[in-house]
Amino acid sequence: MNVRPAEIPRFANIGQAIETLKPAEPTYVLHPSKFAEAAKRFLDHFPGDTLYAIKANPHVNVLDQVWASGIRHFDTASLPEIELVKGRFPEAICHFMAPVRAPGTAKIAFEKYGVTDYVVDCDYELDKLLAETKNSRKLRIFVRIATPLGGALLELSSKFGCTPDEAAKLLKRVKDSGAQPCITFHVGSQCLSPFSYAQAVEMARRTAEKAGVEIAALDVGGGFPGPYNNNDVPPYHWYFDSIKEALATMPRPVPVICEPGRALIAEGLSLITQVILRKGDSLYLNDGVYGSFDELTLPGWNADYFHRVYALDAKGKVSEKPQGQKAFRVYGPTCDSLDVLPRPLALPDNIGPGDYIVFESIGAYSVAVRTNFNGFFPDSWAIAGN
Ligand SMILES: Cc1ncc(COP(=O)(O)O)c(C=O)c1O
Repeated sequence: MNVRPAEIPRFANIGQAIETLKPAEPTYVLHPSKFAEAAKRFLDHFPGDTLYAIKANPHVNVLDQVWASGIRHFDTASLPEIELVKGRFPEAICHFMAPVRAPGTAKIAFEKYGVTDYVVDCDYELDKLLAETKNSRKLRIFVRIATPLGGALLELSSKFGCTPDEAAKLLKRVKDSGAQPCITFHVGSQCLSPFSYAQAVEMARRTAEKAGVEIAALDVGGGFPGPYNNNDVPPYHWYFDSIKEALATMPRPVPVICEPGRALIAEGLSLITQVILRKGDSLYLNDGVYGSFDELTLPGWNADYFHRVYALDAKGKVSEKPQGQKAFRVYGPTCDSLDVLPRPLALPDNIGPGDYIVFESIGAYSVAVRTNFNGFFPDSWAIAGN
Protein backbone atom coordinates (compact mmCIF):
# COMPACT_ATOMS: atom_id res chain seq x y z
CA MET A 1 0.00 0.00 0.00
CA ASN A 2 1.32 3.44 -0.85
CA VAL A 3 1.63 6.23 1.68
CA ARG A 4 -0.65 9.21 1.17
CA PRO A 5 0.05 11.54 4.05
CA ALA A 6 -3.11 13.46 4.87
CA GLU A 7 -1.42 16.84 4.75
CA ILE A 8 -0.43 16.48 1.08
CA PRO A 9 -3.36 17.41 -1.22
CA ARG A 10 -4.31 14.58 -3.55
CA PHE A 11 -5.66 14.76 -7.09
CA ALA A 12 -6.58 12.42 -9.92
CA ASN A 13 -4.04 14.06 -12.22
CA ILE A 14 -1.83 17.12 -12.66
CA GLY A 15 -4.48 19.10 -14.56
CA GLN A 16 -6.84 18.75 -11.62
CA ALA A 17 -4.07 19.77 -9.21
CA ILE A 18 -3.48 22.97 -11.20
CA GLU A 19 -7.19 23.73 -11.52
CA THR A 20 -7.71 23.36 -7.78
CA LEU A 21 -4.49 24.72 -6.30
CA LYS A 22 -3.64 27.34 -8.96
CA PRO A 23 -0.11 26.97 -7.59
CA ALA A 24 1.89 30.18 -7.57
CA GLU A 25 4.87 28.25 -6.12
CA PRO A 26 6.71 25.44 -7.92
CA THR A 27 4.93 22.25 -6.84
CA TYR A 28 6.36 18.74 -6.69
CA VAL A 29 3.77 16.12 -7.57
CA LEU A 30 4.24 12.59 -6.23
CA HIS A 31 3.07 9.64 -8.35
CA PRO A 32 2.79 6.70 -5.91
CA SER A 33 2.32 4.08 -8.65
CA LYS A 34 5.60 5.16 -10.31
CA PHE A 35 7.53 4.71 -7.06
CA ALA A 36 5.95 1.28 -6.66
CA GLU A 37 6.81 0.24 -10.25
CA ALA A 38 10.42 1.38 -9.89
CA ALA A 39 10.92 -0.49 -6.60
CA LYS A 40 9.24 -3.62 -7.96
CA ARG A 41 11.67 -3.76 -10.90
CA PHE A 42 14.54 -4.11 -8.44
CA LEU A 43 12.82 -6.15 -5.73
CA ASP A 44 11.56 -8.72 -8.26
CA HIS A 45 14.59 -8.93 -10.54
CA PHE A 46 17.81 -7.76 -8.92
CA PRO A 47 19.62 -10.83 -7.52
CA GLY A 48 20.27 -9.35 -4.03
CA ASP A 49 19.33 -6.54 -1.64
CA THR A 50 18.42 -3.15 -3.11
CA LEU A 51 19.57 -0.12 -1.08
CA TYR A 52 17.97 3.26 -1.88
CA ALA A 53 20.76 5.89 -2.13
CA ILE A 54 18.92 8.62 -0.31
CA LYS A 55 21.22 11.40 -1.54
CA ALA A 56 19.20 11.27 -4.80
CA ASN A 57 16.18 12.64 -2.95
CA PRO A 58 16.08 12.65 0.86
CA HIS A 59 12.74 14.46 1.24
CA VAL A 60 10.51 12.62 3.71
CA ASN A 61 7.63 12.61 1.21
CA VAL A 62 9.86 10.66 -1.14
CA LEU A 63 11.31 8.42 1.58
CA ASP A 64 7.75 7.50 2.60
CA GLN A 65 6.96 6.43 -0.95
CA VAL A 66 10.16 4.40 -1.25
CA TRP A 67 9.46 2.69 2.09
CA ALA A 68 5.83 2.03 1.14
CA SER A 69 7.08 0.45 -2.07
CA GLY A 70 8.91 -2.19 -0.07
CA ILE A 71 12.52 -0.94 0.06
CA ARG A 72 14.04 -1.66 3.50
CA HIS A 73 17.76 -1.03 2.92
CA PHE A 74 19.28 2.44 2.54
CA ASP A 75 22.63 3.67 1.24
CA THR A 76 23.37 6.53 3.60
CA ALA A 77 26.41 8.76 2.99
CA SER A 78 26.55 10.60 6.33
CA LEU A 79 25.39 10.46 9.93
CA PRO A 80 22.54 12.94 9.29
CA GLU A 81 21.26 10.67 6.50
CA ILE A 82 21.37 7.68 8.87
CA GLU A 83 19.56 9.68 11.56
CA LEU A 84 16.92 10.74 9.06
CA VAL A 85 16.24 7.18 7.89
CA LYS A 86 16.35 5.53 11.35
CA GLY A 87 14.28 8.35 12.85
CA ARG A 88 11.53 7.78 10.32
CA PHE A 89 11.81 3.98 9.92
CA PRO A 90 13.43 2.39 12.99
CA GLU A 91 13.49 -1.06 11.32
CA ALA A 92 15.38 0.23 8.26
CA ILE A 93 18.84 -1.19 7.58
CA CYS A 94 21.40 1.51 6.82
CA HIS A 95 24.67 0.99 4.99
CA PHE A 96 27.36 3.68 5.28
CA MET A 97 28.62 3.57 1.70
CA ALA A 98 30.57 6.84 1.41
CA PRO A 99 34.35 6.29 1.06
CA VAL A 100 35.11 9.32 3.26
CA ARG A 101 33.44 9.84 6.63
CA ALA A 102 33.61 12.72 9.05
CA PRO A 103 35.71 11.66 12.07
CA GLY A 104 33.64 9.95 14.77
CA THR A 105 30.64 9.22 12.55
CA ALA A 106 31.44 5.55 11.94
CA LYS A 107 31.62 5.05 15.73
CA ILE A 108 28.12 6.46 16.22
CA ALA A 109 26.75 4.66 13.16
CA PHE A 110 28.10 1.35 14.47
CA GLU A 111 27.39 1.69 18.18
CA LYS A 112 24.08 3.56 18.10
CA TYR A 113 22.53 2.46 14.80
CA GLY A 114 24.09 -0.99 14.33
CA VAL A 115 25.50 -0.13 10.89
CA THR A 116 27.93 -2.83 9.77
CA ASP A 117 28.58 -2.02 6.08
CA TYR A 118 31.25 0.61 5.24
CA VAL A 119 33.32 1.62 2.22
CA VAL A 120 37.00 2.56 2.02
CA ASP A 121 39.39 3.36 -0.82
CA CYS A 122 42.54 4.27 1.11
CA ASP A 123 44.57 3.24 4.17
CA TYR A 124 43.70 6.37 6.13
CA GLU A 125 39.95 5.73 6.05
CA LEU A 126 40.48 2.04 6.81
CA ASP A 127 42.63 2.86 9.87
CA LYS A 128 40.04 5.37 11.07
CA LEU A 129 37.16 2.94 10.54
CA LEU A 130 38.91 0.08 12.35
CA ALA A 131 39.81 2.37 15.26
CA GLU A 132 36.29 3.79 15.60
CA THR A 133 34.63 0.37 15.47
CA LYS A 134 37.29 -1.31 17.67
CA ASN A 135 38.19 -3.77 14.91
CA SER A 136 34.78 -5.37 15.00
CA ARG A 137 34.53 -8.66 13.15
CA LYS A 138 30.91 -7.85 12.37
CA LEU A 139 31.96 -5.30 9.77
CA ARG A 140 31.65 -5.83 6.03
CA ILE A 141 34.23 -3.47 4.56
CA PHE A 142 33.74 -2.72 0.87
CA VAL A 143 36.86 -1.60 -0.97
CA ARG A 144 35.86 0.76 -3.77
CA ILE A 145 37.51 0.26 -7.14
CA ALA A 146 37.54 2.86 -9.92
CA THR A 147 35.87 1.69 -13.12
CA PRO A 148 36.04 2.98 -16.71
CA LEU A 149 33.41 5.58 -17.61
CA GLY A 150 31.74 3.28 -20.14
CA GLY A 151 28.18 4.29 -20.81
CA ALA A 152 27.48 6.74 -17.97
CA LEU A 153 26.73 10.44 -18.35
CA LEU A 154 28.19 11.49 -14.99
CA GLU A 155 31.41 9.77 -13.97
CA LEU A 156 31.95 8.71 -10.37
CA SER A 157 35.42 7.17 -10.46
CA SER A 158 37.79 10.16 -10.50
CA LYS A 159 37.17 11.30 -6.93
CA PHE A 160 36.76 7.90 -5.30
CA GLY A 161 37.87 4.42 -6.18
CA CYS A 162 41.34 2.87 -6.25
CA THR A 163 43.29 0.80 -8.75
CA PRO A 164 43.11 -3.01 -8.62
CA ASP A 165 46.63 -3.09 -7.08
CA GLU A 166 45.73 -0.64 -4.31
CA ALA A 167 42.42 -2.43 -3.78
CA ALA A 168 44.15 -5.80 -3.47
CA LYS A 169 46.35 -4.43 -0.65
CA LEU A 170 43.33 -2.97 1.14
CA LEU A 171 41.38 -6.22 0.80
CA LYS A 172 44.26 -8.13 2.43
CA ARG A 173 44.37 -5.60 5.24
CA VAL A 174 40.61 -5.94 5.78
CA LYS A 175 40.93 -9.71 5.90
CA ASP A 176 43.82 -9.51 8.37
CA SER A 177 41.74 -7.22 10.60
CA GLY A 178 39.13 -9.97 10.98
CA ALA A 179 36.39 -7.98 9.19
CA GLN A 180 34.75 -9.30 6.03
CA PRO A 181 36.41 -8.08 2.80
CA CYS A 182 34.00 -6.95 0.06
CA ILE A 183 34.22 -4.91 -3.16
CA THR A 184 32.14 -2.01 -4.46
CA PHE A 185 32.15 0.31 -7.49
CA HIS A 186 29.98 2.95 -9.12
CA VAL A 187 29.91 2.84 -12.93
CA GLY A 188 28.69 6.48 -13.06
CA SER A 189 25.23 8.00 -12.94
CA GLN A 190 22.67 7.65 -15.74
CA CYS A 191 24.54 4.67 -17.15
CA LEU A 192 23.11 3.73 -20.55
CA SER A 193 25.26 0.66 -21.05
CA PRO A 194 24.34 -2.53 -19.14
CA PHE A 195 27.72 -3.90 -20.23
CA SER A 196 29.49 -1.38 -17.95
CA TYR A 197 28.27 -3.39 -14.96
CA ALA A 198 29.58 -6.68 -16.40
CA GLN A 199 32.95 -5.04 -17.06
CA ALA A 200 33.09 -3.72 -13.48
CA VAL A 201 32.11 -7.09 -11.98
CA GLU A 202 34.94 -8.64 -14.00
CA MET A 203 37.34 -6.02 -12.58
CA ALA A 204 36.12 -6.93 -9.10
CA ARG A 205 36.70 -10.64 -9.80
CA ARG A 206 40.27 -10.00 -10.95
CA THR A 207 40.94 -7.70 -8.01
CA ALA A 208 39.84 -10.34 -5.50
CA GLU A 209 41.97 -12.91 -7.33
CA LYS A 210 44.99 -10.58 -7.20
CA ALA A 211 44.45 -10.12 -3.47
CA GLY A 212 44.02 -13.87 -2.95
CA VAL A 213 40.94 -13.05 -0.90
CA GLU A 214 37.45 -14.53 -1.06
CA ILE A 215 35.09 -11.58 -1.01
CA ALA A 216 32.06 -11.78 1.27
CA ALA A 217 29.86 -9.50 -0.87
CA LEU A 218 29.87 -7.36 -3.99
CA ASP A 219 28.09 -4.00 -4.25
CA VAL A 220 27.40 -3.02 -7.88
CA GLY A 221 26.55 0.55 -6.89
CA GLY A 222 24.00 2.84 -8.48
CA GLY A 223 23.93 4.37 -11.95
CA PHE A 224 20.79 2.67 -13.27
CA PRO A 225 19.17 5.26 -15.56
CA GLY A 226 15.99 7.26 -15.49
CA PRO A 227 13.86 8.03 -18.53
CA TYR A 228 14.52 11.37 -20.22
CA ASN A 229 13.76 12.66 -23.72
CA ASN A 230 16.09 11.52 -26.49
CA ASN A 231 17.64 9.07 -24.08
CA ASP A 232 17.34 5.46 -25.16
CA VAL A 233 17.31 3.65 -21.86
CA PRO A 234 17.90 -0.07 -22.46
CA PRO A 235 15.35 -2.43 -20.87
CA TYR A 236 16.08 -2.94 -17.18
CA HIS A 237 16.38 -6.68 -17.46
CA TRP A 238 19.46 -6.15 -19.68
CA TYR A 239 21.17 -4.59 -16.66
CA PHE A 240 20.16 -7.38 -14.31
CA ASP A 241 20.98 -10.11 -16.85
CA SER A 242 24.35 -8.53 -17.54
CA ILE A 243 25.14 -8.44 -13.80
CA LYS A 244 23.95 -12.02 -13.28
CA GLU A 245 26.02 -13.30 -16.20
CA ALA A 246 29.13 -11.60 -14.89
CA LEU A 247 28.48 -12.88 -11.35
CA ALA A 248 28.33 -16.43 -12.72
CA THR A 249 32.05 -16.15 -13.57
CA MET A 250 32.97 -15.64 -9.89
CA PRO A 251 34.81 -18.64 -8.43
CA ARG A 252 31.94 -19.16 -5.99
CA PRO A 253 28.52 -17.53 -5.41
CA VAL A 254 28.89 -14.04 -3.91
CA PRO A 255 26.02 -12.16 -2.22
CA VAL A 256 25.34 -8.99 -4.21
CA ILE A 257 23.75 -5.65 -3.34
CA CYS A 258 23.03 -2.51 -5.35
CA GLU A 259 22.45 1.12 -4.35
CA PRO A 260 20.35 2.92 -6.94
CA GLY A 261 19.28 6.49 -6.34
CA ARG A 262 17.91 7.93 -9.56
CA ALA A 263 16.27 4.71 -10.81
CA LEU A 264 14.06 4.37 -7.72
CA ILE A 265 12.73 7.90 -7.63
CA ALA A 266 13.19 9.84 -10.90
CA GLU A 267 9.82 8.91 -12.39
CA GLY A 268 7.91 9.31 -9.14
CA LEU A 269 8.00 13.12 -9.23
CA SER A 270 6.75 15.72 -11.67
CA LEU A 271 7.17 19.45 -11.16
CA ILE A 272 4.59 22.12 -11.90
CA THR A 273 6.19 25.49 -12.64
CA GLN A 274 4.43 28.72 -13.57
CA VAL A 275 5.37 31.28 -16.22
CA ILE A 276 5.76 34.62 -14.45
CA LEU A 277 6.96 36.73 -17.38
CA ARG A 278 7.22 36.54 -21.16
CA LYS A 279 9.49 38.84 -23.16
CA GLY A 280 9.33 37.88 -26.82
CA ASP A 281 10.80 34.40 -27.10
CA SER A 282 11.99 34.37 -23.51
CA LEU A 283 10.00 32.90 -20.63
CA TYR A 284 10.74 33.44 -16.94
CA LEU A 285 9.58 30.63 -14.63
CA ASN A 286 9.18 30.53 -10.87
CA ASP A 287 11.89 27.78 -10.68
CA GLY A 288 15.33 27.50 -12.24
CA VAL A 289 18.82 26.06 -12.00
CA TYR A 290 19.26 27.18 -8.38
CA GLY A 291 16.06 25.28 -7.59
CA SER A 292 15.02 22.04 -9.25
CA PHE A 293 17.14 22.12 -12.41
CA ASP A 294 20.70 22.09 -11.07
CA GLU A 295 21.56 18.71 -12.59
CA LEU A 296 20.95 19.96 -16.14
CA THR A 297 23.93 22.29 -15.77
CA LEU A 298 26.45 19.60 -14.79
CA PRO A 299 29.39 19.01 -17.13
CA GLY A 300 28.66 15.72 -18.85
CA TRP A 301 24.91 16.09 -18.82
CA ASN A 302 23.71 16.28 -22.41
CA ALA A 303 21.25 19.15 -22.84
CA ASP A 304 19.21 17.04 -25.26
CA TYR A 305 18.52 14.55 -22.49
CA PHE A 306 15.81 16.65 -21.07
CA HIS A 307 12.80 16.08 -18.90
CA ARG A 308 9.59 15.49 -20.81
CA VAL A 309 7.81 18.84 -20.74
CA TYR A 310 4.29 20.01 -21.51
CA ALA A 311 2.31 23.22 -21.03
CA LEU A 312 -1.11 23.65 -19.41
CA ASP A 313 -3.15 26.80 -19.12
CA ALA A 314 -4.20 28.48 -15.90
CA LYS A 315 -7.16 26.06 -15.63
CA GLY A 316 -4.92 23.04 -15.94
CA LYS A 317 -6.07 22.32 -19.51
CA VAL A 318 -4.12 21.99 -22.75
CA SER A 319 -4.24 25.43 -24.39
CA GLU A 320 -6.83 25.50 -27.18
CA LYS A 321 -5.61 28.33 -29.31
CA PRO A 322 -1.93 28.01 -30.18
CA GLN A 323 -1.02 28.46 -33.85
CA GLY A 324 1.73 25.96 -33.25
CA GLN A 325 4.86 25.33 -31.19
CA LYS A 326 7.73 27.74 -30.81
CA ALA A 327 11.20 27.50 -29.25
CA PHE A 328 11.51 29.54 -26.05
CA ARG A 329 14.57 30.38 -24.01
CA VAL A 330 13.58 29.56 -20.43
CA TYR A 331 14.99 31.48 -17.45
CA GLY A 332 14.65 30.89 -13.74
CA PRO A 333 13.48 33.62 -11.37
CA THR A 334 16.80 34.72 -9.84
CA CYS A 335 18.97 37.71 -10.84
CA ASP A 336 21.75 35.49 -12.22
CA SER A 337 22.17 35.27 -16.02
CA LEU A 338 23.37 31.68 -15.54
CA ASP A 339 19.90 30.83 -14.26
CA VAL A 340 18.68 29.58 -17.63
CA LEU A 341 17.80 26.10 -18.86
CA PRO A 342 20.57 24.68 -21.07
CA ARG A 343 18.39 24.39 -24.16
CA PRO A 344 15.32 26.10 -25.60
CA LEU A 345 12.00 24.37 -25.02
CA ALA A 346 9.32 23.87 -27.68
CA LEU A 347 6.07 25.21 -26.20
CA PRO A 348 2.72 26.55 -27.49
CA ASP A 349 3.34 29.92 -29.20
CA ASN A 350 0.61 31.65 -27.16
CA ILE A 351 2.06 30.68 -23.76
CA GLY A 352 2.29 33.54 -21.27
CA PRO A 353 2.22 34.60 -17.62
CA GLY A 354 -0.11 32.47 -15.52
CA ASP A 355 0.35 29.36 -17.71
CA TYR A 356 2.06 26.28 -16.34
CA ILE A 357 4.92 24.12 -17.57
CA VAL A 358 5.13 20.58 -16.21
CA PHE A 359 8.46 18.71 -16.07
CA GLU A 360 8.20 14.92 -15.76
CA SER A 361 10.64 12.48 -14.11
CA ILE A 362 12.24 15.16 -11.95
CA GLY A 363 12.69 13.11 -8.77
CA ALA A 364 16.49 12.70 -8.91
CA TYR A 365 19.01 15.34 -7.78
CA SER A 366 16.41 18.15 -7.92
CA VAL A 367 14.84 18.46 -4.45
CA ALA A 368 18.14 17.21 -3.00
CA VAL A 369 20.23 20.09 -4.28
CA ARG A 370 17.82 23.06 -4.43
CA THR A 371 18.96 26.26 -2.79
CA ASN A 372 17.12 29.32 -1.52
CA PHE A 373 19.23 31.68 -3.65
CA ASN A 374 17.35 35.00 -3.97
CA GLY A 375 14.73 33.69 -1.54
CA PHE A 376 13.26 31.12 -3.96
CA PHE A 377 12.95 27.66 -2.40
CA PRO A 378 10.54 25.22 -4.05
CA ASP A 379 8.80 23.15 -1.38
CA SER A 380 5.10 22.71 -2.21
CA TRP A 381 3.79 19.18 -2.64
CA ALA A 382 0.81 17.36 -4.11
CA ILE A 383 -0.05 13.76 -5.00
CA ALA A 384 -1.51 12.73 -8.38
CA GLY A 385 -2.97 9.32 -9.15
CA ASN A 386 -2.70 6.15 -7.12
C1 LIG B 1 28.31 5.81 -3.56
C2 LIG B 1 27.08 6.11 -4.36
N1 LIG B 1 26.10 5.19 -4.41
C3 LIG B 1 24.96 5.41 -5.09
C4 LIG B 1 24.74 6.59 -5.76
C5 LIG B 1 23.46 6.78 -6.51
O1 LIG B 1 23.72 6.85 -7.88
P1 LIG B 1 22.55 6.91 -8.94
O2 LIG B 1 21.61 7.95 -8.53
O3 LIG B 1 23.24 7.17 -10.23
O4 LIG B 1 21.90 5.54 -8.94
C6 LIG B 1 25.75 7.58 -5.78
C7 LIG B 1 25.56 8.85 -6.48
O5 LIG B 1 26.32 9.79 -6.38
C8 LIG B 1 26.95 7.34 -5.04
O6 LIG B 1 27.94 8.25 -5.00
